[in-house]
Amino acid sequence: MSLCALNGEIMPLEEARISPMDRGFLFGDGVYEVLACVGGRIRAASLHRARLQQSLAAIALDVSVDAVFNDLQRVLEASGIQDAKLYVQVTRGPVSVREHSFPSVVEPTVFLSVSPFTVRQLEPVSALVREDIRWRRNAIKSTSLLANVLLQQEAKALGAGEAILHRDQWVTEASTSNVFMLKDRALVTPPLSNDILPGITRHLVLELAHDLGLGVNETPVSVDELASAETLFVSSSTRGLMPIDRLEPGGQVGQGGVHSEFEALASRYDELLHEHP
Ligand code: PDD
Repeated sequence: MSLCALNGEIMPLEEARISPMDRGFLFGDGVYEVLACVGGRIRAASLHRARLQQSLAAIALDVSVDAVFNDLQRVLEASGIQDAKLYVQVTRGPVSVREHSFPSVVEPTVFLSVSPFTVRQLEPVSALVREDIRWRRNAIKSTSLLANVLLQQEAKALGAGEAILHRDQWVTEASTSNVFMLKDRALVTPPLSNDILPGITRHLVLELAHDLGLGVNETPVSVDELASAETLFVSSSTRGLMPIDRLEPGGQVGQGGVHSEFEALASRYDELLHEHP
């Protein structure tokens, strides 16, 4: 039985009900977080809290992040799951009339769920390279994910693991992750902007590059450069660091396979996640 918490009340997932007039359902008017919990400990919780706070502020939704995280801890403990994927969604709540602008008084809906998490794989996958068809406020972790859904579905249908996105041939991120190249003992990744989500995994990877003596270059990356990486990889809380060995279009990345520096980075990343507050 999977557990969830709906507005603070813990219940079996199948018993949770929300109104069809919830603005999250009607408009995708909400924000979310996805967190990994390993060995009973939520990974990088402080960074996820800060990002949820930023997303809420960006959509002018006033909800106590402390209360959300207290409830998250409660539902996690109630589930008894040690290795869990945690989902947090906060919407602008139910309304009596469907109108785009916000009502003057809102009752946000806070939905939290816990499901078993299987630890990531290190095997390389292929990625599609596609135009970034999303809106222009991608730093907000919005639940309006239709473009990401369509891109990820296309990747799956064509046997690829991800879709790497670009605007005018400049890489933004991927449909569910951030993009990195490992090249000449440096990590190269597009800089933070409205075009990308400030990924928690991205942040952690940059933090530990120092420990490993790798350079860091947050700079625009063109689509043409991708295949010249020694290792190309994407990062996210649930998939960790996932190497990409083929691009469609674009062909093989580097020499194929995974560079030893990437292996060192991935194992240091695992250690860091157990330590990070
Ligand atoms: N996605 N970019 C996009 C578009 C994402 O959807 C995600 C994560 C990331 C990586 O962020 P983080 O390192 O904080 O997980 C980057 C989550 C896992 C999801 O939507 O399920």
